[in-house]
Amino acid sequence: MRVIKDIHELIEIRKNLHGKVGFVPTMGALHKGHLSLIEQSKKQNDVTIVSIFVNPTQFLEGEDFEKYPRKDVADMDICKRMDVDILFMPNHKDIYFEDEVCIKAPKNKSYILEGYKRPTHFDGVLRVVLKLFHLIKPNVAYFGKKDAQQLYLIKKMVLDLFLDIKIVAVDTVREESGLALSSRNEYLSHEDRKKALLISESLKHCAKSIMKGIFRVDILKAEMFDILKPLDIEYVEFVDRDFNTIESVQKQNSIVLVAVKVGTTRLIDNLWI
Ligand code: PAF
Repeated sequence: MRVIKDIHELIEIRKNLHGKVGFVPTMGALHKGHLSLIEQSKKQNDVTIVSIFVNPTQFLEGEDFEKYPRKDVADMDICKRMDVDILFMPNHKDIYFEDEVCIKAPKNKSYILEGYKRPTHFDGVLRVVLKLFHLIKPNVAYFGKKDAQQLYLIKKMVLDLFLDIKIVAVDTVREESGLALSSRNEYLSHEDRKKALLISESLKHCAKSIMKGIFRVDILKAEMFDILKPLDIEYVEFVDRDFNTIESVQKQNSIVLVAVKVGTTRLIDNLWI
């Protein structure tokens, strides 16, 4: 595995890469969710490139940018064991310039849900992902379904900007308990972890209700709120795959999204129906 920190070195090496290139962008603190993205890329491509970059522009003032877990040594070891071909770990000063040209996420789909309390978050995500796409020039890029809104906006960016990159959506990986894996789970105390199980419980309950034939969003939402009430609920929302809010669940075209705070930790999860 080659570890590259310098952008110009990456550009040179990329010129001489042959075959299909799969790309897994990450912010590090790698867990099994990331590993499943890497595994898929390894299976489907000739070369796999992973990036680790804690992207400052997607954190808002007062968020956990400074505190965000950084585990470069352990991450390097994981990537080596996963037989990643190139691990790209750029510096902030090389990625961003003063007064630079910026992409903006469409407001109607990026200032809702995850973007409601975190306006400009998705501008920062698209800004860095576009730069990474230009540097790495992947044929295929892998993103987790857990960040469903991010995945939707990245797919939209690829379509709107005519980028020739296939975006692969990878299923959420969960602990045996049902808790969706996230780098932010590290912030949870033992007690918080137990409380956080209500999130997957509420989603499982919703799936069961839908199987019983309940499609009305108001009913499904009320049931979920009831399960989640011991937590600080930020939103429970039902959208179609284009992130339009819906009043009735349509199979194969709906996503149930949950965002809660457990203690001081904000967690998200979802269910694709
Ligand atoms: O999902 C993430 O880890 C980040 O948002 C991403 C896509 C790597 C961009 O910084």
